[in-house]
Amino acid sequence: MEGVAASAPAASDGVEYVELCAEDELWDGDMDAFDVGEHEVLLVRYGGRYFAYDAICPHQSTSLADGELTEDGVIICRAHLWEFRADGGQGINPANECLKAFPVKVEDGRVFVGAEPDAR
Ligand code: FES
Repeated sequence: MEGVAASAPAASDGVEYVELCAEDELWDGDMDAFDVGEHEVLLVRYGGRYFAYDAICPHQSTSLADGELTEDGVIICRAHLWEFRADGGQGINPANECLKAFPVKVEDGRVFVGAEPDAR
């Protein structure tokens, strides 16, 4: 897991954003975890887009950063192989689970996430 690259939050649209890293620090098809306040946030780059989720698996709290991101966009938890879609966080196995998403944006070559997950 990485620490947050810069601690100065950027505010926009009522969401407090925190800078994580430079855009080119994460390759397409890769993921990494960052400490954001009390959250461990999993930043995923897939299909040229960024997604951010609570990194803690909803099953038994293993970090998804230790898992795998497959070429077809599936995040697999290493502990018991639960699977989630990289583009949205919807559970595949089991289908009734979903990762908590954080707002994410890219500005001036830097990646930012919201300090709190989306309310849903
Ligand atoms: S802790 Fe992730 S699948 Fe069990």
